[in-house]
Amino acid sequence: MSRPVLAGQVALVTGAGWGDGGIGRTIAHGLAELGAKVLVSDVAPTAQQTADWIAADVAGAETAAHCGDLSDEDVVASLVGQALDKWGRLDILVNNAGGGIIRPFLDHTPDTLRETIDRNLWTAVWCTYYALPHMVSARYGRIVNIGADSVRNGLWDHAGYNAAKGGVHGMTTGLAREFADSDITVNTVAPCAVNTERMRGRQAYDGSMAEKFTSVIPKGRPAELKEIASMATHLCKPESGFVTGQVISVNGGSTML
Ligand SMILES: NC(=O)c1ccc[n+]([C@@H]2O[C@H](COP(=O)([O-])OP(=O)(O)OC[C@H]3O[C@@H](n4cnc5c(N)ncnc54)[C@H](O)[C@@H]3O)[C@@H](O)[C@H]2O)c1
Repeated sequence: MSRPVLAGQVALVTGAGWGDGGIGRTIAHGLAELGAKVLVSDVAPTAQQTADWIAADVAGAETAAHCGDLSDEDVVASLVGQALDKWGRLDILVNNAGGGIIRPFLDHTPDTLRETIDRNLWTAVWCTYYALPHMVSARYGRIVNIGADSVRNGLWDHAGYNAAKGGVHGMTTGLAREFADSDITVNTVAPCAVNTERMRGRQAYDGSMAEKFTSVIPKGRPAELKEIASMATHLCKPESGFVTGQVISVNGGSTML
């Protein structure tokens, strides 16, 4: 039997608790299937549920869980420490923690705007800041951020969220240049609407909003979780080493080029 492509590697996936979205846990599951040891983290205690699910579902998988607010620098420092203490290395970082507070810009309060930036941008900034030194020492790393296609198409009610995700997209290019000579790639996967439990709930509650967000997608439907996760896990492989500094939309054609 051939050796799994990520055998011996360690991955950290943020925002991978058992929420009503699920992109993070699907990516973590995919990385474990490719042979990586996976540390999942979330502000919610459900990260343990994800770790247990993967361990039960993927033969031979090694998993661990962490719970904490990753917009807090000290929490992130201890999270990265947990991966190193347990497995002695960190090869892959998936900055998936986030989620929108989606509303017209002037309906935001100062608190909801701050929360939006904390969730989506500071989590990615701190995790990257604390993971990178170890990747530089190892002269290898794969960083994948989960951004948003709404940054490109200016989707209704997404301006506050796009301020945060636009920062994530922006960080991608500069980091890719800075760390290219250490074989560290930095890319962002930008989903459009995704067929999550949350999306289905929204559809049941207010179909017009869900329909509006899907109306800009030529494929005529939201993305499935695996369609997002497969792009993210591909970018985590050694063989994707020549792809860096890219924001790759997985969006059913809702923006092109
Ligand atoms: N679902 C979509 O339609 C969609 C579209 C574009 C982008 N995205 C992005 O994809 C990612 C995953 O979203 P999802 O739809 O699977 O939703 P989700 O709610 O299941 O995942 C986001 C997770 O991040 C966690 N999180 C939030 N703030 C955190 C913090 N400060 N510290 C640690 N964890 C924190 C949440 O608890 C949650 O479990 C998010 O970054 C989201 O913005 C989602």
